[in-house]
Amino acid sequence: AVRGPHPSAAAALIPAQARHDRTGVPAPRPPLPHHTGVRPPHLPAGRMPRHVAVIMDGNGRWATRRGLPRSEGHRVGAQKALRDVVHGALEIGLPHLTVYAFSTENWKRDLQEIAFLLHTIREDLNGEAGAKEWASYGVRLRWAGDSEGLPTDVVEDLARGERATRHCTRLTLTTCVNYGGRAELTRAAARLARAARDGDIDADRIGTGEFTRHLSLPDLPDVDLLWRTGGEQRTSNFLPWHATYAELHFTDTHWPDVDRRDLWRAVTEYGRRQRRYGAVVSNAQPS
Ligand code: IPE
Ligand code: IPE
Ligand code: MG
Repeated sequence: AVRGPHPSAAAALIPAQARHDRTGVPAPRPPLPHHTGVRPPHLPAGRMPRHVAVIMDGNGRWATRRGLPRSEGHRVGAQKALRDVVHGALEIGLPHLTVYAFSTENWKRDLQEIAFLLHTIREDLNGEAGAKEWASYGVRLRWAGDSEGLPTDVVEDLARGERATRHCTRLTLTTCVNYGGRAELTRAAARLARAARDGDIDADRIGTGEFTRHLSLPDLPDVDLLWRTGGEQRTSNFLPWHATYAELHFTDTHWPDVDRRDLWRAVTEYGRRQRRYGAVVSNAQPS
């Protein structure tokens, strides 16, 4: 007997934005396709990274070569490149994407550039408008870094972005702002020392698990693939704890020229790597 359309066929008739799950939150919109119409590669699940971390480098050189102010590189990098890469990450079902937006060493730049970078992070990425846009695609925003030294309005916007997207589960986009790997590790050590002094933990029982709980984002998974654009082959104080066993990928393209196809290439190449984690056996998996 025909009992009406198949449930999934019926669902397809309802616009995605009108569909709600049990929590009353609208279902995320599908990611925007690339402007050329290119479709994502098929990547076997076992070959997919869970966490890709990106050092978005080369904005300044991109702009300077075009006779533009460095700020233009930052603007295009955030509004065009990052946005496209996030949609490309959604298309391949990547669960964690972490990007380096402002390091603890970037305070060495001139004030105008710093102000522009922080403005871009607020306006184009993690501020109210950004959070609203990302939430509609199911992107959860998180921030890793130090509030100390950052203007309070920037801190408030980063926290607001986290709150406004907390229910999103499709992709976690962690932005590292005023982030430095050594600062993160030093802070974790200080927290552990205080906890031991106060008798809350036993110093003799501190292991990697306990240490992880004192990092900026305790639940941030290990980095599987660390990708740096812009031609330099260094990690510049980015995620030392999480990236100890990351596969490294360096490309020459300046960040503003990057799009999702570069991410897909990186991930496809990652899928061909053999990760051994110190073991001799072939196809070793993390313990
Ligand atoms: C990356 O681009 C963005 C940040 C570091 C914030 P750069 O601004 O470092 O650009 P280059 O490396 O000078 O070209
Ligand atoms: C790393 O790039 C920091 C970010 C991308 C935010 P930098 O341009 O600051 O790094 P160095 O100075 O080349 O090491
Ligand atoms: Mg640079």
